[in-house]
Amino acid sequence: MEKRPVLLAMNNITKSFNGNIILKDINLNFDSGKIYGLLGPNGVGKTTLMKMIVGLNVIDRGSIVFHTIDITNGNHEQMRSQIGSLIEYPIFPPTYTVKQVLSEQLFLMNIKIDQAYLIKIIDLLDLTSQSNIKVKNLSLGWKQRLGIARAVANYPKLLLLDEPFNGLDLIAVQKVTKLIQYLAKQGVCIIISSHNLEELANIADQLLLIKHSQIKLISQKQIDNNIKNYYYHQFSDWETKH
Ligand SMILES: Nc1ncnc2c1ncn2[C@@H]1O[C@H](COP(=O)(O)OP(=O)(O)O)[C@@H](O)[C@H]1O
Ligand SMILES: [Mg+2]
Repeated sequence: MEKRPVLLAMNNITKSFNGNIILKDINLNFDSGKIYGLLGPNGVGKTTLMKMIVGLNVIDRGSIVFHTIDITNGNHEQMRSQIGSLIEYPIFPPTYTVKQVLSEQLFLMNIKIDQAYLIKIIDLLDLTSQSNIKVKNLSLGWKQRLGIARAVANYPKLLLLDEPFNGLDLIAVQKVTKLIQYLAKQGVCIIISSHNLEELANIADQLLLIKHSQIKLISQKQIDNNIKNYYYHQFSDWETKH
């Protein structure tokens, strides 16, 4: 079978803040239609990695190539509409309603509204009941759902979700999971970060563990073979240090 070209390539990337190396010599490839779980405790560099992809963090060296185009350090104006992201926490104009946030996003991205797709997203996230509520009156969990809806509204080829399950109740987690799985089936490449292995093990095709400024691949098989406990152990070690 012909191998599909890589959607996103991170080549030899190093990132430091004030002389502290956060990520060192990172080489990663991401393919369309796959879900990647980016795992690691607080402060390890998950958000930093996502911000590098969208150009919010300037890298020390290396390159980021998306769809064969070099997008290193935000050099990707024309690619912006193809990358959806929810990084850290969502920020909205407080007086907007849920509906307005979503239509504004599509307008800004200059995207022709695909009503069927939008309805599917709103339905999957159960946002219909909230559509006329002003953002400032939404609870944290609903804001998070709206942030996710906005990130996917323009049908991105690449979706970055930074700790998307934070603040969500179990039902919302299930809904977001379904949405992510639906998008992956449509060919979207999705990178989800979390400090919680269990959250990611259920959904990711490929797990990436950040440790000591490196990123290691962990196979689903390794997790199934109870390596899980080993990583939990590592996690508790780390947690005491932070
Ligand atoms: N703008 C910044 N300036 C200085 N240090 C930063 C900045 N952003 C992140 N860091 C540091 O980089 C490390 C990784 O942070 P981050 O990527 O936010 O971790 P995570 O998302 O995994 O919790 C932390 O030690 C954090 O303090
Ligand atoms: Mg973070």
